[in-house]
Amino acid sequence: MFELSEDTKQIQSLARDFARSEILPGAAERDRTKKYPAELVSQLGEMGFMGMFVPEEYGGFGLSVLDYVVALEEICYADAAVGVVMSVNNSLAIYPILKFGTHEQKLEYLPSMASAEKLGCYALTEPNAGSDAGSQRTKVVKDGDDYVLNGTKMWITNGPQADVCVTYANLDVEKRHKTVCAFIVETDSPGYSVGKVEPKLGISASHTSELIFEDLRVPAKNLLGEETRGFQVAMGTLDGGRIGIAAQSLGIAQRAFDLALAYSQERKQFGKPIVANQAIQWMLADMATKIDAARLLTWRAAHMKDQGDRGSRECSMAKLFASECANFCADKALQIHGGYGYSKEYEVERLYRDARITTLYEGTSEIQRLVIAKSLLTR
Ligand code: CAA
Repeated sequence: MFELSEDTKQIQSLARDFARSEILPGAAERDRTKKYPAELVSQLGEMGFMGMFVPEEYGGFGLSVLDYVVALEEICYADAAVGVVMSVNNSLAIYPILKFGTHEQKLEYLPSMASAEKLGCYALTEPNAGSDAGSQRTKVVKDGDDYVLNGTKMWITNGPQADVCVTYANLDVEKRHKTVCAFIVETDSPGYSVGKVEPKLGISASHTSELIFEDLRVPAKNLLGEETRGFQVAMGTLDGGRIGIAAQSLGIAQRAFDLALAYSQERKQFGKPIVANQAIQWMLADMATKIDAARLLTWRAAHMKDQGDRGSRECSMAKLFASECANFCADKALQIHGGYGYSKEYEVERLYRDARITTLYEGTSEIQRLVIAKSLLTR
């Protein structure tokens, strides 16, 4: 488990080369202009990175979760905003269709999503159902062969660009998660619209929006999984999504470390490079130790998923530790850069802002601790 296979190393190297030559150079500009990276997403699709677990029969390469986290770390090293577009498509939109969908649903949606011809999003969160995801208020009623949805979703990554939306609605809001249903929605359906696009602190090139469903008609064939078992689809999907955010966090943390190490060797004060001071060395040592620990937790969670294990606790542990590690490393990298780190002309300033989301989305650190504790107490 400590050594990646040759195949996984090749995927890592392909992702690394592409990330450093094609993604990294434009990251600062995209952060400034908030421009969605459409061209890069298409290229990632052509290379097979947008639907990594999709089996060959549905147009993908059938790669492992470990391959995915290793590749995603490399993409996020260059630009976490591009990385989250990739992560949401793979983990939150494709994965539930692959895991819970019918053969017909897989045939219809997976090939175009894996190639990035179509982009996916995952719409669970609502204005009053954030951490308490079970309190879904978007209503669904059955009408002949259709379901009709009414409600509002928010904080939806890829919201403005998505062609396919995996979403959730409740047959009876009083029964909370017990009556939630999951659906695959085509975003050009009448009654589906994109609401407010959020102005954000970081990952600015990835867009996050509200989605509004007004008498949105979804054919029964687009019910995902069993009726009233939608909450299980949502939670099962988030386990894997959380490993993706752990990988994103690792990419940010590793980049912050590399920049801090290089700067501390170049920057001279009191007649010597600042890295000659133990204060700086200890920061670097703490960063490197946390990054290694986060990577091992992430790889373990991915390995468990590849073995068919649900691994909710391990996914949450990886997400919790790696996201806090990304914030720690971005903070220390900025500290090592001193005043320059606070300037928009230095990359660590963007990393500091980009890292901040990782302890929030796909479950806050507090929710990860809750999942871990619940699993320990019911073991
Ligand atoms: N896999 C499958 N089923 C699961 C599960 C899992 N990991 N976790 C729970 N369930 C099932 C339970 O077995 C239970 O089923 P039964 O009713 O049949 O017994 C049911 O789900 C309810 O479980 P809980 O009682 O544990 O549910 P809860 O209401 O206490 O909530 C929670 C648990 C962990 C707090 C959950 O609500 C949660 O994860 N909240 C955070 C939501 C979140 O992460 N949101 C982020 C959205 S995605 C995003 O960030 C947007 C983006 O675009 C990136």
